Amino acid sequence: MGKFNTKVVRAAMKPDPTTGAIIPPIYQVATYVLEEVGKDKGFDYSRAANPTRRVLEEYLAAIEGGKYGVCFASGMSAVDAALKLLKAGDHVVCTDDVYGGISRLFNQILANYNLSFTYVDTADPQKVKDAVRKETRLLWIETPTNPLLKITDLEAMAEIARTNKLYYVVDSTFATPVFLRPLEYGADIVVHSTTKYISGHNQLIGGALITNRKDIFDQMKFIQKSIGAVPSPFDCWLTLLGVKTLAVRMKRHDENGRCVADFLSQHPKVSRVMYPGLPSHPLHETVKRQMSGFGGMISFELKGRIPAAKTVMNNVKLCLLAESLGSVETMITHPATMTHASVPREARLARGLTDGLVRLSVGIEDADDIIADLAQALEKVS
Ligand SMILES: Cc1ncc(COP(=O)(O)O)c(C=O)c1O
Repeated sequence: MGKFNTKVVRAAMKPDPTTGAIIPPIYQVATYVLEEVGKDKGFDYSRAANPTRRVLEEYLAAIEGGKYGVCFASGMSAVDAALKLLKAGDHVVCTDDVYGGISRLFNQILANYNLSFTYVDTADPQKVKDAVRKETRLLWIETPTNPLLKITDLEAMAEIARTNKLYYVVDSTFATPVFLRPLEYGADIVVHSTTKYISGHNQLIGGALITNRKDIFDQMKFIQKSIGAVPSPFDCWLTLLGVKTLAVRMKRHDENGRCVADFLSQHPKVSRVMYPGLPSHPLHETVKRQMSGFGGMISFELKGRIPAAKTVMNNVKLCLLAESLGSVETMITHPATMTHASVPREARLARGLTDGLVRLSVGIEDADDIIADLAQALEKVS
């Protein structure tokens, strides 16, 4: 299928054999007529498999450099499905700075099923080694993290996972396959909230797991069919349309991200900027080795802390104050009250997620306009 950019436009999307339709049709259907008892055409019921969903699953596997993809109704249901590889009594070592919905699922739901979780700064491989115990079965890495943009060295994690026979899972939602392909670094499973950059236009909620391991794929398919958290054919189709431009969009997110991060890091009212592309990022060298771009996600703090952060968020005009990230529009978010509100305050502060932190998902508008908007909002900070 050619090189990476060609795959992003064309992988898995063949013209429809019946009509020649250039994009895959929406098979909006629940069930399929059998030719005779025991003989179907590969599909029997859409919870188990659907032709539109199958194209998306094959597509995502192809661009992630994997063999198998399994799609879900949301990023969270993909996360939940991955955790269903475990049994009661198992232990998970997890990046401390994960998306708030993930720690909520782990601590407030899955912990009730006798799974236990240890959160560590996975930027430090020694801390991960120290956290592994005899019940540990899975290593959960998010890189770059939401919202502090922390980075984990994926090769170092692969070594720990191999030595301790752990499932090695990487949530690569922020990076996308354009900038990082964790399977190449030894991950067993890659997780995506396809809600974000992959679909790219704030048009749906979706999730996916990608693997090279047939044993894991078989379990994932079984879990998908048994639990039934599947995306609708229409959402799969919308994802397929959105994702065709992923490579060009990510290039632009990255260019704009660099400009906005430079602007913020030089602004007198900004005290701290977290962006993997800044030389001040503690793992900047690892990022340069591991990723082919830095992306459009930036977090920052203001000298005036919480009131100043609120002033900026309430005064932006072009940037949209909204949950979520990864769309073409620039969005500004207050993690403490929005995306990470479910994380108890002490736990948030312990991991460095302050009440005054502002997260930016830099879109693909003109960078000058995004910067001008932030500048006028920053001017309102007394
Ligand atoms: C890194 C990351 N993983 C997973 C999720 C969950 O995805 P969804 O909102 O599609 O359920 C999110 C949502 O923000 C996220 O940021």
